[in-house]
Amino acid sequence: MFEHEAMREGCTSCHQPHGSISSKLLVQRDANLCLKCHAQTPQGNGVWIGKVDHTQLLRLGSCWSAGCHTAVHGSSVHPKLLY
Ligand code: HEC
Ligand code: HEC
Repeated sequence: MFEHEAMREGCTSCHQPHGSISSKLLVQRDANLCLKCHAQTPQGNGVWIGKVDHTQLLRLGSCWSAGCHTAVHGSSVHPKLLY
């Protein structure tokens, strides 16, 4: 089991339980939801998050809907929450 540590701060770091203009009651509908905790680090011409170059990946959509970190609440198989 790979826990997403964000869950320790509660659901409201990502969801607005009373209602939201974003689907799934999300606080933000795009990658900024994740980037408030996970910093983008400029390196050369690229943007890195953690140890991975995300320059191209960030153009594909949000971190969870682009088919990457789909197991956003936690994963039983993948440490990077990919599935
Ligand atoms: C780190 C941010 C984050 C936290 C913290 C978080 N969620 Fe989510 N949650 C998301 C995202 C992003 C989605 C949309 C996932 C998708 O569309 O695949 C989502 C989707 C959901 C959904 C809809 C699932 C579906 O299949 O449509 C529910 C229900 C939900 N979350 C409940 C919770 C509850 C309850 C908590 C706290 C225990 C929580 N979430 C904490 C980010 C978070
Ligand atoms: C409230 C703060 C917070 C938010 C919001 C948040 N995270 Fe996290 N996340 C953490 C913490 C803390 C960790 C554990 C420490 C670390 O690996 O940086 C973590 C770990 C991760 C990891 C594992 C990293 C690794 O190298 O093992 C992934 C992947 C991840 N988060 C993706 C996301 C995605 C995708 C979103 C947006 C839906 C998101 N996070 C939103 C706090 C957050």
